[in-house]
Amino acid sequence: AKILFEGPEPGTIVQYFKDDATAFNAQKKGTIQGKGVINNRISEYVFTRLSHIGIPTHFIRRINMREQVVRQVEIIPIEVVVRNVAAGSISKRLGIPEGEPLPHTLIEYYLKDDALEDPMVAEEHIACFGWASNEEMQDISAMAIRVNDFLSGMFAAINIRLIDFKLEFGRLWVGDYSRVILADEISPDGCRLWDMTTGEKLDKDRFRRDLGGEEEAYQEVARRLGLLQDESGPSEVFDL
Ligand code: TMP
Ligand code: ASP
Repeated sequence: AKILFEGPEPGTIVQYFKDDATAFNAQKKGTIQGKGVINNRISEYVFTRLSHIGIPTHFIRRINMREQVVRQVEIIPIEVVVRNVAAGSISKRLGIPEGEPLPHTLIEYYLKDDALEDPMVAEEHIACFGWASNEEMQDISAMAIRVNDFLSGMFAAINIRLIDFKLEFGRLWVGDYSRVILADEISPDGCRLWDMTTGEKLDKDRFRRDLGGEEEAYQEVARRLGLLQDESGPSEVFDL
């Protein structure tokens, strides 16, 4: 969904957000018109707000409709999935009905390896094979919980239920010392977002499950966050 290239300053990268969508380990491919523009803007907004509560992130600045400058990091090869409500793979794998609130928030780890189809791994595997250190995993799980608490409230305020989401982290090297920061993007591509009143899906499941209306769903999330031009909206926003 993104192209990465060298950034304007040393140690920076530009993320270019495309309209391309993939699902099921890229077996399903398609386009969601305007998605790149919206995800660039939503991710800017979310990362900026997270930095304001002290979460270190790779985000530096958005430079245009589809591009943002971020810090160059060494991506930790683990996808961190946080779940509040059963849906998707956990429902399928464990037979828990979609929409059932989990007794408590779950954090799962998946190895980023397309050839292996991103298998779920335990913290023991991560330590055993050295994908991340125990200290890094402590930082990662603590940040994931804080991000979840913040995002759950942020979305609840716009009548959206945060079902689950995926995070990626990277190592920022300063000499021979590194620290873990939040990387990649946070957008409806990597979150499940349900309207609190109707239960309507406002995320990439519309594409994964051929529900239609994916453009409108992404726009609706941006609109509720106050990031899209409408008659009543503030002025630092832009048209699509
Ligand atoms: P899952 O139910 O398919 O495991 O997905 C959980 C959440 O993580 C869901 O919000 C989508 C997101 N996700 C990604 O962003 N990328 C991925 O490769 C996968 C498998 C999930
Ligand atoms: N984006 C991932 C893929 O290409 C998974 C997903 O979001 O469903 O398979």
